[in-house]
Amino acid sequence: MERIEKINVLREKLSLVRKADKKIALVPTMGNLHEGHLSLVKLAQSLADYVVVSIFVNPTQFVAGEDFENYPRTLEADLEYLKHLNVDLVFIPDMAEVYPGDVQITTEVVVPELDSIYCGEYRPGHFKGVATVVCKLFNIVQPEIAVFGEKDYQQLLVIRSLVKNLNLPIDIYGAATMRETDGLAMSSRNMYLNETERQKAPVLYKALMAVAKSIKRGESNYQNLEKNAISSLKNAGFKPEYFSICDSKTLKPPINQDVVIVAAAWLGKARLIDNVAVQSYD
Ligand code: PAJ
Repeated sequence: MERIEKINVLREKLSLVRKADKKIALVPTMGNLHEGHLSLVKLAQSLADYVVVSIFVNPTQFVAGEDFENYPRTLEADLEYLKHLNVDLVFIPDMAEVYPGDVQITTEVVVPELDSIYCGEYRPGHFKGVATVVCKLFNIVQPEIAVFGEKDYQQLLVIRSLVKNLNLPIDIYGAATMRETDGLAMSSRNMYLNETERQKAPVLYKALMAVAKSIKRGESNYQNLEKNAISSLKNAGFKPEYFSICDSKTLKPPINQDVVIVAAAWLGKARLIDNVAVQSYD
C-alpha cells in the first residue's frame, strides 16, 4: 500500500495507474476507521481496479462549538486496517494541501436544495464544508467511481446532487449501513456514549424500524407516526432534533411509497444519526 501526502506526488502516481488502463475508485474518510468504512473499501474494490482511500479531518464541515479539535485521530490503526484490506493507496494530505488559500475565505460549493434542511438546519454550513472538500478530493484524485455510506443519507444525496449539477464524470455508489449486533449504526462518535447510554442507543434504530413496519402495513398518517416516535425517543432519554418520513430522492414530503425515515437525536454527548429506507409495496 502506498502512502502519499502531497498532491503532486499523488497525481504522478495516478497518471501511471490511468496509463495502465485501471479504473480508479475513491473512498473519502475522516479516519478513525471502523467496519462501516471498511465495507465501503470492499465495495470500491469490487467496482474498480485501483482503490484510493483519503483520510482528512475536514475543518470546514465542523460547525462552531463542535468536536473538530477532539475528533478521534487514529492514523496508525487506520493504516493497519487498510493494509490488511490491500488498499492500493492512502492519501493523507495536510491542511495546506487541501486548503492552499485561507481556509476561512475559500471558494465554496453549495447544494442549495439540501443545505438547510434536517442536518443542515441543525449544523448550519456543515454540508457546504462537506460539498467543498469532496469536490476538492474529486478534483485531486479524479476517480471514475466514489463510494459513500448510506449511514449519512443526506450527505450521500448532497454528493449525488453536486456531481450531477457540476457535470462531474464520476459514478457515485452508496453502501449499506454497517451496524453493531444490537442495531446501533457504527460511527466514530459512538465513543462519546457512556455505558448506560450505549445500552440505550439502539432505541433510535428500533424506532426507525417500527415506523418502517407501520408504513409497510399501510399506515398513512405520517405526521402521527413521526410525533409518536419523537415522544417515545424523548421518554427514553434522547433529545431528538428531527424524525421525519420523506421522499427518498429529495428529502421533501413523500410523493409515493419510496420513502426514507431520517432521524437525528442527542444521547448524552453523542449526536446520533440514522435512517431506514422503505421500499415500494411489493
Ligand atoms: P466519515 O464520517 O469518516 O465517513 C466516511 C464514509 O464512511 C462516509 O461515506 C460515511 O457515510 C461512511 N460511513 C460511516 N459510518 C458508516 C456505517 N456505519 N456504515 C456504512 N458507511 C459508513 O463522512 C465523512 O467522513 C466526511 O463527511 C467526508 C465524506 C469524508 C468528507 O469530509
